[in-house]
Formats: sequence, C-alpha cells, structure tokens
Amino acid sequence: MYNNQKVLLSGIQPTGVMTIGNYIGAVKNWLTMPDDCLSIYFIADLHALTIKQDPTLFRQTALSFYAQYLAAGLDPKKSILYFQSHVPEHTQLQWAMNCFTYIGEAQRMTQFKDKSLKHADNINMGLMDYPVLMAADILLYNTDLVPVGVDQKQHLELTRDIALRFNNRFGDVFTVPEPYITKNGAKIFSLSDPLAKMSKSDVDPNAYVSVIEDADSIMRKFKRAVTDSGNEVVASENKPGITNLLNIYSEMTGKSIADAELEFEGRGYGVFKQAVGEAVVEKLRPMRENYNKLISDKAYLAEVAKDGAERARSIAFKTVRKVYKKLGLVPMS
Ligand code: TYM
Repeated sequence: MYNNQKVLLSGIQPTGVMTIGNYIGAVKNWLTMPDDCLSIYFIADLHALTIKQDPTLFRQTALSFYAQYLAAGLDPKKSILYFQSHVPEHTQLQWAMNCFTYIGEAQRMTQFKDKSLKHADNINMGLMDYPVLMAADILLYNTDLVPVGVDQKQHLELTRDIALRFNNRFGDVFTVPEPYITKNGAKIFSLSDPLAKMSKSDVDPNAYVSVIEDADSIMRKFKRAVTDSGNEVVASENKPGITNLLNIYSEMTGKSIADAELEFEGRGYGVFKQAVGEAVVEKLRPMRENYNKLISDKAYLAEVAKDGAERARSIAFKTVRKVYKKLGLVPMS
C-alpha cells in the first residue's frame, strides 16, 4: 500500500519484440486493473543487460517497448510508466536484498538454469542475480499485486521469501506481494511448437506474433500455425496446438473456450485458424495505429518517461532510506 492505495507493479524486458504472449499474459491484465490502485509499469532494461545486447539496437528496442506500453492504452497520467535504468533506487535496494538471498536459492531458479543452458558462453553474475533485482523492483514500492504470466511465479515466491526474511528481522518494512496470474492467458505457446512457451527472442519468427505486426503477416502466421491430428476444435491435453489457439481466441474476443468450441463445431481447423488470425488483427489494430503515431514523437516519449521516473523516484527513495536506516547505515546529514 502507498498512501492508502493498493499498489500494482509489473515490467517487461525490452528484448526482441513484444509478443501476444506478453500482451495476453501481462499488458492486457494491466489495462483492466481498478482505477483506484497505484499502478506502476516499467521497462526492465537493466534486466535485459544479462544477455549481450547491441547498444544501438537495444536503445531503439527499449524506446519502442515504451511506446508500445502507451499504444496499448496505459495512461501516463493514471499510471507511473518509466525506464528501470532511470531510477537508481532499484539497484540500491537490490544490493541490500542480495545480502538476504542465499546463493542456493538463486541457483535453483528455473529461468536461471534455462538461460545458463541457452547462453552457456555468458553465465554472468547478473544472470544469477536477476531474481534479486526483480525482488527489489517489487519491494521498492510496497507492491501488493504483481500481474504476470505463470513463468514469473517462482521469482515472485523468492521475492516473498526475501521480504519475509527481512521483515522477521526488522519489523514490518515490506509489503509481501501476491502474484496475479489469469487462468487461460498465463502461458501462451509458440505457434511453431505448441509445447514451448511463445518467446520474444525465438530464432524462428513464425513462432511468435508481435503486438504491432502488420495484418498480412499475422494472418500468414496463424494459417501456418502447427496444429494437432484430427479436425475437431476442442481444448484438450492431447491437442496442445488447438488448445493454445483457443486460448488466444478467447483472450482476444472475450468469448469463453466453451463458446468458441461451439462456434467452430464441425468447421475444421482451417476456418478456425483464419478466425483466430482475424480476431488478433482486430484486437491489436488500435494499438498498431497508436504506436505508429507515438514512435515518431520522440520528444513526447522522453517527456513522459522523465515524468514517470521522477514520480517513481519520489516513492522509491523513501524505501531505500528506510531500509538503509534499518540496516544501520549512517544516514547522510
Ligand atoms: P518478460 O519480459 O519475459 O515477460 C513480460 C511479461 O510477459 C509474460 N509472458 C507471457 N505470458 C504468457 N505467455 C507467454 N508466452 C509469455 N511470455 C512472457 C511474463 O510472465 C511477464 O509477465 N522478469 C520479468 C520482467 C520483470 C518483472 C519485474 C515483472 C522484471 N522485474 C517485476 C514483474 C515485476 C520478465 O523477464 O518478463
């Protein structure tokens, strides 16, 4: 809670492209959060440094993701929207949180293990310390609720453990956050391999759809999406491809899975895939149009980002001051 308001916070790493997985698992839920909450959404650019980035491309991608936040409908007057690297308190709190996290805990994180395998030539300290930075992101603002996809659940559990460990020693300093994960949208799978998560940095561009992709390209990708044997459009464990498409259709249209199954009964996969593509194109159309306007207005983006960072810092510095004081660091007079 901050000033008697419930605090919501989340972020996305600016790498590759923002996919419909990120949209359905995260951004779409951010848009439906109650107005009386304090909502804080940032671009997790420091997190993205754990993987080698080309600086020029990285800068463009991060700005593009920020414009996509705005294009999706996040209102910079109602929410605090900023770049993580503009708020140094994130890393200031991270250092303190590092000293409350055991190496064994960090090594157990599935994403650390997965990324270590994927980037075997660059298993850097940041990669292992990543979840502690994430804990600091969340604890910095006394966050109550963290709307994310299911892949972030383990990181949230670690955040809770760190908060409780600190609170046990120093009193009620941190709010212990809860994840907010929806049922169908929690994990959207790859269109090329329905057993793998849709990932924004997949080497195969047919595996994902970007939220600002043009209509023809979206339609093409859905038409070629990998499906299962048989021809009935029903969600089931032995139909991971169709189940994934049903989830996407349901999230994009607001129809239930059961209604979607009825709608496509006896009509076959081809008709269904076409309809899913169309639903995605329609839902994302306003976002794509807004994005094209926003991305060309760099001065506006810079101004809004600065305002967001200043508002974020006005909360964050108090948390760091409080934590440092609890730890016994001599305050600067
Ligand atoms: P990231 O950038 O991998 O993903 C951003 C958000 O999108 C969700 N997501 C998905 N949801 C459904 N299906 C998918 N295929 C899919 N892929 C991604 C993620 O769960 C996430 O909600 N560590 C975070 C970023 C972060 C953060 C934070 C989030 C840094 N600090 C503090 C919340 C709070 C990450 O890498 O997300």
